[in-house]
Amino acid sequence: MTKDDFWGYSLKTKIFFGTGSLKKIGEILKSENVKRITIVCGKSIEKTDIIRKLIKNIKKTKTKYVIFNKVEPNPKVTICVEASKIAREFNSEYILGIGGGSALDTAKASAATCTNNVDLEDIIKNNIPLKNEALPIIAIPTTSGTASEINKFSVLTSSAGKKIVLRDEKIIPKFAIIDPMLTVSCPKRTTAAAGLDTISHAIESYWSKKANPLTKLFCIESMKISNKWLEKAYKDGGNIKAREEMSKASLYAGLGFSNTGTTDVHKLSYTLTEKFGLEHGFACAIFLPEYVKFNEKGNNKTLKEIAQAFGERNAKELAKRLMQIMRNVNAPTSLREIGAKEKDVEFIVNEGYSENKRNNPRNITKKQLREIIRKIM
Ligand SMILES: [Fe+2]
Repeated sequence: MTKDDFWGYSLKTKIFFGTGSLKKIGEILKSENVKRITIVCGKSIEKTDIIRKLIKNIKKTKTKYVIFNKVEPNPKVTICVEASKIAREFNSEYILGIGGGSALDTAKASAATCTNNVDLEDIIKNNIPLKNEALPIIAIPTTSGTASEINKFSVLTSSAGKKIVLRDEKIIPKFAIIDPMLTVSCPKRTTAAAGLDTISHAIESYWSKKANPLTKLFCIESMKISNKWLEKAYKDGGNIKAREEMSKASLYAGLGFSNTGTTDVHKLSYTLTEKFGLEHGFACAIFLPEYVKFNEKGNNKTLKEIAQAFGERNAKELAKRLMQIMRNVNAPTSLREIGAKEKDVEFIVNEGYSENKRNNPRNITKKQLREIIRKIM
């Protein structure tokens, strides 16, 4: 039996998608009979129309709320603990995360510590599953990229400054409201980085060893949409159609990688975010063109299918198209551009190389990885 003969797929989140769907929050709170909720967000979003609209809709219900607005990019575990304390003191029954990936990841981790008396760093390090379900989560993304609103991952920063990932089915949001209108005010650089994160999710999930026919279906469609719309959304943030399409691309890629995980490209990306503060999506995309060429060997058919989704014929052409997209959205295409020096090659190799649980379609040695990184310098 091949892996394609027997596979499973899981989705725990009820998704509301569409322009104007933010108002669905009232319906959710009423149907779930939520009396008290903690809203987790960043400072910059708190003063925007998005939060005003959200609060207006919550006020139409009987739900009482408190706002925790201390989320920052690359959220630290300590911030999650703080959010969790506020939520517990308020006797929250639900956590609502609104914002980019950092806000949603903070909401998810804090929901976990509301119901589990654990040290997050400790359970992540030792791969200990959560005992209890997290507080139920409503996730409302304001960027199109992370798909954190439907998955089991919460990417955090440890006290030592390392990227660590809480992976647990118990933190999957119960509801996701994906309203493309919320992404219209997303700055250009964030639009670019989030869009490239979407492309990385779709490609990595598609070639992942855990891919199945359903995840592939979502990912191929995601790639086609990003190929057509990311540059347009970047050029004109007010292009609602482009925003809607990129929200869709992000969700579809999420429906893929939520079930397959990502591969080497994501693992490597963390080294660049840790050391150079590079945005997650840019940190992933920078490895993609070379990985596309590397992974072709032994996976000809898969790479051809991915290339075709981008309107190309093979891995070489696909790599060129990816570079073109990256240039068109002003993303860095070399490690020097982000300030890396020759000595950093070894850092990236050592920190980014994963010995076990490899999900990449082609096995790679440290020597081969070093060669790839040199090419990206
Ligand atoms: Fe990602």
